[in-house]
Amino acid sequence: MIHFNNVSKRFDREGKSFWAAKNINLDIQEGEFITVIGPSGCGKSTVLNMCAGLMKPNGGEIYYRGKQVEKINTRVGYMTQKDNLLPWRTVIGNVEVGLEIKGLGAKEREKESSKFIEMVGLKGFEKHYPQELSGGMRKRVSLAKMLAYDPETLLMDEPFGALDAQLRLILQAKLMEIWKETKKTIIFVTHDLEEAITLGDRVAVFSKRPGTIKLIQDVNLPRPRDTFNIRFTDEFSKVHTTLWDALKEEFIEEVIGV
Ligand SMILES: Nc1ncnc2c1ncn2[C@@H]1O[C@H](COP(=O)(O)OP(=O)(O)OP(=O)(O)O)[C@@H](O)[C@H]1O
Ligand SMILES: [Mg+2]
Repeated sequence: MIHFNNVSKRFDREGKSFWAAKNINLDIQEGEFITVIGPSGCGKSTVLNMCAGLMKPNGGEIYYRGKQVEKINTRVGYMTQKDNLLPWRTVIGNVEVGLEIKGLGAKEREKESSKFIEMVGLKGFEKHYPQELSGGMRKRVSLAKMLAYDPETLLMDEPFGALDAQLRLILQAKLMEIWKETKKTIIFVTHDLEEAITLGDRVAVFSKRPGTIKLIQDVNLPRPRDTFNIRFTDEFSKVHTTLWDALKEEFIEEVIGV
């Protein structure tokens, strides 16, 4: 479904250039839930930006359903790391954006939007403006907005990062339920290794900048997964140890510079 073929991205700044991502090779199957983890600044968001067609690689190509991504990829929904809610629209007005583009009538838009606003726990906040919400609430509006648009592929960049642990577990469970029902393809970036294992069919570990894929680990935990209890199973700890061994090397070098 999505094929990264030796994808690299360079940024130029004040006469200097550096590679944010280097030689990314990755094949993602239709209906797969892949999670991505790696140190801050290693190019994870950059890779999603390229997949959404917002940036072009400086080397290699990305193919989506066999077609090279060269402009905005309208088949994906992108929940960016920093929310991009429209400040002049209310919560429901923001969630309705994608439905307007699809040409739905007012009644149907309201019905669909309300369903997803309720799902993310924001019933009662429909008429609030983004600046009246907390960081975690804004993230949830972005999630509702993407789900209401109903794209076949979801690109999610640390979607649950600003949420408390309890709400995070609830929304993880919701997302897995939606994924199972709708058979979407999901690329999910997170800083939380437990979250990466709980959700993913595979976990891709990125090295520090310039980001390359260091390891891709299958997660053979049965589904449906219980987002709270799955972490206490033996298989979970086995996968956790393997991934943490790969990941910690990147962080040790990042922090103490060896
Ligand atoms: N538009 C841009 N112009 C210049 N440099 C950029 C741009 N976007 C990203 N970068 C740089 O590319 C590198 C990778 O950034 P990116 O946002 O992809 O990292 P990340 O892995 O998503 O990090 P984090 O986990 O902190 O979100 C960083 O050094 C960043 O400063
Ligand atoms: Mg990022």
